[in-house]
Amino acid sequence: MSDSEKILASVTTASAEETAAWGRAFAKTLSAPALVLLTGDLGSGKTTLTKGLVSGLGAASEDEVTSPTFTLVHVYGKARKVFHADLYRIDSFHDFETLGMEDMFDTPAIAILEWSERFPLIAPWPQVRIRLEHQGQDHRRITVYEVASSTPSGPTS
Ligand SMILES: Nc1ncnc2c1ncn2[C@@H]1O[C@H](COP(=O)(O)OP(=O)(O)O)[C@@H](O)[C@H]1O
Ligand SMILES: [Mg+2]
Repeated sequence: MSDSEKILASVTTASAEETAAWGRAFAKTLSAPALVLLTGDLGSGKTTLTKGLVSGLGAASEDEVTSPTFTLVHVYGKARKVFHADLYRIDSFHDFETLGMEDMFDTPAIAILEWSERFPLIAPWPQVRIRLEHQGQDHRRITVYEVASSTPSGPTS
């Protein structure tokens, strides 16, 4: 994460439900096409936040949103699609493209990516980065960073 990324919002939630509720509200600020890059340790709340985002976008209910850790990508919604992928087990952008996600950027959509820091993504879409951090027990800090459109979405080395 570069120092030049501007913080757009920062909040601390006290429960999974609060994180999902924050996601529902934040979803109202998103319009397709957009890439939502989620970073944070295991259990920091990336999937929980995604439940709120997808539900706030009207693409599925929170219960329908589950971790794509093994399936790699879930697609919600009909006319307006929301992709939800987990890059944890994917090693490179090349793998990402060959695992059935090569069409993801063909049509304007919202793509929510967990473990987005694993490799740089080549996507000509506006991006926002959301970082989740454990703050002890059920508290999580959520920080939203602006990502300049010309910068890659992850480490370049
Ligand atoms: N404030 C909170 N925000 C999000 N999740 C929380 C919070 N407090 C406790 N949790 C719990 O932490 C876990 C987060 O898991 P998950 O969303 O799958 O994380 P990740 O996708 O980052 O691995 C869930 O079991 C959730 O109930
Ligand atoms: Mg997850």
